[in-house]
Amino acid sequence: MLSGAEDALAVVHEHILVCTACPLHVRRTQAVPGTGPATARIMAVGEGPGETEDRLGKPFVGAAGNVLTRLLGSIGLSRDDIYITNVVKCRPPGNRDPEPAEMESCSGFLDAQIEIIRPDVILILGRHALARLLPGAGGISGLHGRRVVRGERIYVPLYHPAAALYQASLMRTLEEDMLRVRQYLDEAETRRHDAQAATGSAAAPGRSQQEEPPARDQLDLF
Ligand code: URA
Repeated sequence: MLSGAEDALAVVHEHILVCTACPLHVRRTQAVPGTGPATARIMAVGEGPGETEDRLGKPFVGAAGNVLTRLLGSIGLSRDDIYITNVVKCRPPGNRDPEPAEMESCSGFLDAQIEIIRPDVILILGRHALARLLPGAGGISGLHGRRVVRGERIYVPLYHPAAALYQASLMRTLEEDMLRVRQYLDEAETRRHDAQAATGSAAAPGRSQQEEPPARDQLDLF
C-alpha cells in the first residue's frame, strides 16, 4: 500500500505525464516527472530533461547525470536517497534554455513536489533552477555551496553538473560544495531528531508523523 506522500506524489506524476499546458509537450517523447522516494530528506532540482532523459523518462540519466551520481556517492548518498526533478518536465528542443513561460507552466508541479516531499535540503542545480527557486537571491557564482534558509527549508545552489563537463575546474568546486551539503544534511538530521525527541515522537527517518502530505484534492497543480 502507498503511503500518503507516495500516493500524492504519484498523482502529481500522473498529471505531469499527460500535461499539454505549454508548447514543450508537442515535441517530447515523454514527460519526465522525477525519480526518488517520497520520504527523501534531500531533493535536487535541475533545469530540464535532455535527449537521454526524454528517451528514458528519468531525470539526470545522461552525461550530467553520471556526474551527479558520482557527486552524491562522494558524500555517501545513492540515487535511492534523493528525489531528483527539473524546473521543466519536458525537453526543450535542442536542449535550449527553458523559457520563462515554460517554467511558469510547470511551476505548480514543482511546488507540489516540494510540498509533498518536504525535504530538509534542496540542491539547486544551475542558474535556471536558482532563478525559479530563489528569485532575486543572486547569481550562482556568488551563492554556490552556500546554505540559503527559507522557512523550514535549506536551499543549496550548486553549479550545474553539466557545466563541469565543459569546464574542468568546476568539478573541484562541485566536489568541495558537496562536502558542505553533507554537513548541512547532518545538521538538519540532528535538528529533526532533537525536535522529535522533544515532542516524544519516534525518530524515524523521513517525514515526521505530524506532517501530513496534502490530500489528492488539495494539490494545487496549476
Ligand atoms: N538532465 C536533467 O534531467 N536535467 C538537467 O538539467 C540536465 C540533464
